[in-house]
Amino acid sequence: MTGSSDTPVGSASEIHTLISRLREIVGEDNVLTGANLSARASHFRDASPLHAAALVRPADTQETSQVLSLCNTASQVVVTHGGVTGLVDGDCCTPDDIVLSTERMNTIEPVDVAGRTVSTGAGAILQNVQQAVHDAGLQLGLDLGSRGSCTIGGNISTNAGGLSVLRYGMMREQVLGLEVVMADGTILSTMNRMMKNNAGYDLKQLFIGSEGTLGVITRAVLRLRAATPAVDTALLAFDSFEHVTDTLHHLGQHLNGTLDSFEVIWQPFFRLNTDPGIEGTSQAPLARDHPIYAIAESRATRTATDSGVLPTALEEALEKGWVSDAVIAQSERERRNIWHIREHIDIALRHDPVFVYDISLPIADMQAYVSDIDTQLQTRWPGCNLYVYGHLADGNLHVLVAPAADESLDEATRLDWHRHSNTIVYGPLQGLGGSISAEHGIGLSKKSYLSLSRTQAEISLMRTLKKTLDPAGILNPGKIID
Ligand code: LAC
Ligand code: ZN
Repeated sequence: MTGSSDTPVGSASEIHTLISRLREIVGEDNVLTGANLSARASHFRDASPLHAAALVRPADTQETSQVLSLCNTASQVVVTHGGVTGLVDGDCCTPDDIVLSTERMNTIEPVDVAGRTVSTGAGAILQNVQQAVHDAGLQLGLDLGSRGSCTIGGNISTNAGGLSVLRYGMMREQVLGLEVVMADGTILSTMNRMMKNNAGYDLKQLFIGSEGTLGVITRAVLRLRAATPAVDTALLAFDSFEHVTDTLHHLGQHLNGTLDSFEVIWQPFFRLNTDPGIEGTSQAPLARDHPIYAIAESRATRTATDSGVLPTALEEALEKGWVSDAVIAQSERERRNIWHIREHIDIALRHDPVFVYDISLPIADMQAYVSDIDTQLQTRWPGCNLYVYGHLADGNLHVLVAPAADESLDEATRLDWHRHSNTIVYGPLQGLGGSISAEHGIGLSKKSYLSLSRTQAEISLMRTLKKTLDPAGILNPGKIID
């Protein structure tokens, strides 16, 4: 560094010196710049080259600590990257930022079967952790569509939700211990493996869901569950929303606690993802003209006693007239086909523009809400595509708004349309006691709407925490709050 220790990084020579010192800490090959850096995509939805001052890949907590200590002294912004699969621009950076990638911290330690825990590095890929835990005869209570690329650190820093929240809760519920590096390099290591530990403040909760703004997670201890190999998966068709909620209640009462997922799909999303004329879609196992569908999955520990509980409960729901039609997967291939209809959001994301939402609201209000925003969207953009699906049992819907555009939009129009769409989608939520972000977080893209879901007192405490834990403001600044 050319300046004194508290001089902010600014000039080209200062950043050059900082990068040299980063190379001394993590090794020459683990600081990417130039062509090595731009060979990387910005995001899973944006193939353009990653623009940053450098990408640094520390090997462990100690190196992360040295990296942050150096950056903190230089007031150098650090944006942490896991699998870059987030949907709220929580991971976006500027050409002046250092990206800290957790990719080398991907160790998965041996599973503690008796204690039902596993310790992993923040960069471990979710699917690899699921596999290691499965091989030990247990399972992790977290699963989501991006399992093949998202990381445990990213899952924790965003408090990921996903497909089995109904049964096991969000990522917060799976975390027993954390190792975190604070902005100034201090290591906060609480690799607690105990279910119970009420020894004062539970500080790890501060970092879970804080989107890389309060510290960098480097390791974690995860709580594990009994394996549930007896899987029954059904696709259900309904002729009214009331029947969806009747059926959810019925399954909750009759499945011995084995209901893992209850995912709802309104007709337009179902028709899109089963359209034979579109590449990459699924085959529709049921007629495509029902107004609403759901996927119900029960998972039990013992095939002999619990498998068959879902088919029996569904027969009753069919007899009562709640379920109009149903199909139960007879093979893993059929099961995958059913889930493919729900999980492959990439087909809807091919629309341009498409505005993506992740909202919470009371289950009983969902149909009226969907009809209301549909009316408003059609008024503003006749023929507008509205795709709604999601984790109904968690009170969480995903809403994709794709107004038909004749030609590609200029940036100002796109922004204007996005704002208008936000007003329509978010408008009713406050009155319903819902949230503008159920599971994706706030990042950059929802920041200006935070006050719809949090009070001024809450936001002010968030600011106080940020200032206290990161006084130089180097950790993912501008995300969640200003
Ligand atoms: C999903 C992601 C978008 O559930 O959260 O499909
Ligand atoms: Zn989701």
